Amino acid sequence: MKHYTLVIFGGTGDLTKRKLIPAVHAIAGKDPGLSFTVLGVGRKPLTDESYREFLLPGQTPHPQVSIHYLIADIETPGSLDGLMPRIAGIEKAPVSGRVYYLATSYTLFGTIAASIGADSRGDESFFTRIIAEKPFGSDRASFKKLNRELRTFFSEDQIYRADHYLAKGTIDNILRTRFSNPLFESVWNSRSIARITVAVNEALGVGNRIGYYDQTGAIKDMVQNHLLQTLSLVLMNAPGRPGETAFRKAKTDAIKKLYFRNEIRTGQYRGYQEEVKNIHPGSATETFAELSLYSKERRWKGTEIVLRTGKMLKKREALIDIEFRKDPCTPYCSFDISPNRLTLHIQPLQNVELAINTTLPGEKVALAPVKMTFCPTCEFTANTPESYEVILKECLRGDKRLFMCDKELDDAWRLTDKILAAVRHTVPATYEPGEEF
Ligand code: BG6
Repeated sequence: MKHYTLVIFGGTGDLTKRKLIPAVHAIAGKDPGLSFTVLGVGRKPLTDESYREFLLPGQTPHPQVSIHYLIADIETPGSLDGLMPRIAGIEKAPVSGRVYYLATSYTLFGTIAASIGADSRGDESFFTRIIAEKPFGSDRASFKKLNRELRTFFSEDQIYRADHYLAKGTIDNILRTRFSNPLFESVWNSRSIARITVAVNEALGVGNRIGYYDQTGAIKDMVQNHLLQTLSLVLMNAPGRPGETAFRKAKTDAIKKLYFRNEIRTGQYRGYQEEVKNIHPGSATETFAELSLYSKERRWKGTEIVLRTGKMLKKREALIDIEFRKDPCTPYCSFDISPNRLTLHIQPLQNVELAINTTLPGEKVALAPVKMTFCPTCEFTANTPESYEVILKECLRGDKRLFMCDKELDDAWRLTDKILAAVRHTVPATYEPGEEF
């Protein structure tokens, strides 16, 4: 039996309740060979028992999962003094690994790392890893500071910077789709591709996260991380050799070569002002952003890259759309030929669609675009694991492929700082909830 200890800072937060605890249960439910000791750390005055009830109302934890709680206000010096003795008291021996999950604001990461730092170089009979949740800072300077604080106590190998989009099935599959199909990879360049769009449209608003969101906005909440990470997998060159180092370098290079020409529009849904009025009346935080990027990489010179994301839009839909160039003259120039497109749907479905032109039965003189569709979720019944289940599992396995390294984040922030500077003194346009914008 393998025993793991999971300490969650931000133990009473939304992420813990909605994502992490279900993920722990899903992993335990599929593997009778492991157990979890979970210690939630939070400010709320709860006991172990009331914490379990808070996380799993009316249910008991899985027999392989034991859940405990520690009251601590991380901002108060010395409040984490009781942490290590508490862990020692509940941890099952022999423990295979300790994972510290930082599900708090990034401003607390340094303090937390300092309190658990001594443990990071401790006993070699088990691993100690730290998973840090985005956003990592609010600009490049704060990211660098935060990174230095974490690196004072943990080695890069121990730090798992999570972006749950990397754990989504379609996104995890981008490189396999590209590099196992010469059909695609041979045209994966600006000679053939006119435009690449990565869009994450959400139908819901900000909800109870208004305090966090109003200081963050769509660019820092989504573009800096989920969209740029997805894009890097679309753009990167094939790694020069197998292994993580070459993979990281190729992915980092793809982000480094991106540039921004101030082409952006931002929006705020009608109703946001009402939600934010008690904390920041007149807020100019964007809940929608659409921007164009270009790449200095020779392969992508001339391809337009569009990133789009927003809340309260018409429907929840996330996708990567690759629009191929139209051949300027074919024997069918006189027909209205649509561009070929490869669309990788991320959610709600995970379809892969390829749009081609063909003559429909009975129609001899016209061409029509048709879609060839592969729908894995329709054809296979296996349950796709939820992103946070994948994140936790990969961290326990010590596989960092689905996590972000410091160098790629540094480059992502360098670019994001430029995007933020372009909108700093602008007011987003208002859009109607549920409409196309
Ligand atoms: C989070 C953002 O990282 O991702 C949220 O903070 C956003 O604002 C969410 O709603 C979207 O994730 P998903 O998996 O629901 O598309």
